[in-house]
Amino acid sequence: MPQAVDDFLSKNAARYEDELCELLRIPSVSADSKFKADVRRAAEWVAGQFRNLGLTTEVCETAGHPIVYAEHCRAPGAPTVLVYGHYDVQPPDPLDLWTTPPFEPTRRDGNLYARGATDDKGQMFTHVKSVEAWIKTVGKLPVNVKYLIEGEEEVGSEHLDGFIRDNAAKLKCDVCVISDTSQFGPGSPAITYGLRGISYFELKLQGPDRDLHSGVFGGAVANPANALAKMLAALIDDEGRVQVPGFYDDVAPLSDRERKQFADLAYDEAEFMQAIGVDALRGETGFTNIERRWARPTCDVNGLTSGYQGEGAKTVLPAKASAKFSFRLVPKQDPEKLKSSLQQFLLQRCPTGIKMELIAYHGAPGVVVPLESPYMSAAVRAVEHGFGRKPVFIREGGSIPVVSTFHDLLGVDTLLLGWGLNDDNTHSPNEKFHLADFHRGIKSSAALWEELGKLKH
Ligand code: BES
Ligand code: ZN
Repeated sequence: MPQAVDDFLSKNAARYEDELCELLRIPSVSADSKFKADVRRAAEWVAGQFRNLGLTTEVCETAGHPIVYAEHCRAPGAPTVLVYGHYDVQPPDPLDLWTTPPFEPTRRDGNLYARGATDDKGQMFTHVKSVEAWIKTVGKLPVNVKYLIEGEEEVGSEHLDGFIRDNAAKLKCDVCVISDTSQFGPGSPAITYGLRGISYFELKLQGPDRDLHSGVFGGAVANPANALAKMLAALIDDEGRVQVPGFYDDVAPLSDRERKQFADLAYDEAEFMQAIGVDALRGETGFTNIERRWARPTCDVNGLTSGYQGEGAKTVLPAKASAKFSFRLVPKQDPEKLKSSLQQFLLQRCPTGIKMELIAYHGAPGVVVPLESPYMSAAVRAVEHGFGRKPVFIREGGSIPVVSTFHDLLGVDTLLLGWGLNDDNTHSPNEKFHLADFHRGIKSSAALWEELGKLKH
């Protein structure tokens, strides 16, 4: 990479952090309509960055939150890279567990604390600043770049597929790049080649037409809270196996080779437990902790509501109970296929006297991307330049729905280059981004443009 680019990155490091703080101050919580104007403000802020760099930029309306599109395609004969990221964030609750407020970014111990610091504002921003460094020094880029930065990732990217379908010609590219994943561990950069998919549901149960006295009525009418607990408990057995019929039919099995590769990674289970404050691990029998998280499907309750939640005791038989829960899926499992067998499974277990409603929210299939490609080799060299160490190849358990959409609608694979750490507290209180990783990410990204630029289109 030209020395001038590297020098520019070092000289401007403090300003990059300050600019990221500006974006982090905007509470762009996509799930909560109270923040709708802030979500738009974040989109405009991102668009402003691209405009200042002279990129052709649009803030595109959708039926939900806007999508920011920008491009700089002035390298004829070189590949075209589509960078995806998201400027929306998860809700910050519970607020009282934050050491410093979620939307007042604070530097502490080499980390920047704020909601969205790694997921995904900080990571996405690395690909903006790397382009800036090339434009402000060399005056041009060695590749063609297109950016698709959305505002609904944390709520299932509802309007993204339609946008990609409608704009497929404009989005045409050779490879996609996403930084919204993690390193294997501190000092161990990684490229992620597999992600789990997801299928998200809400189950609503309605019993009597109002809350009742549990002494007068208890034992004589079905209690929706009792029923909900039983129905949810039936979803997964004591061996950690999902009980919905057909659930495992299409699961891609783990090869011996991959199991060995996972086992060869330097991994400390005790450290993993300590980091999340548990004294034991639990999951599907017959699989290691890494296999369970990266390559096995599962089911988790994400939220439960029923009855009295206030102070002290109240003897009530609640009229309603509901739960949000989701399945993590692995490649070859179809998120759409699950709904009907799940509906039947739950209906069979729903007691008489209770009405049941099952709502399907978003879904996305699991993905694996090819390891053997010139793009992947270029990415390996770029990450090595930025982090001073060769990346390891990992899979991860989270989901990024757009990866399969890019494959299906644009016919391209994605490079998942994560600069985060597993203990960055994404979706939790005290989310952070290790600042050294922010800068290494920018450097890797700047090197990526050069490495990809060397490849023939
Ligand atoms: N950055 C995550 C995805 C992720 C997390 C990938 C950890 C790899 C490791 C992303 O922002 C996210 O949280 N996605 C959601 C997707 C869902 C809302 C469809 C997820 O995984 O829950
Ligand atoms: Zn994310």
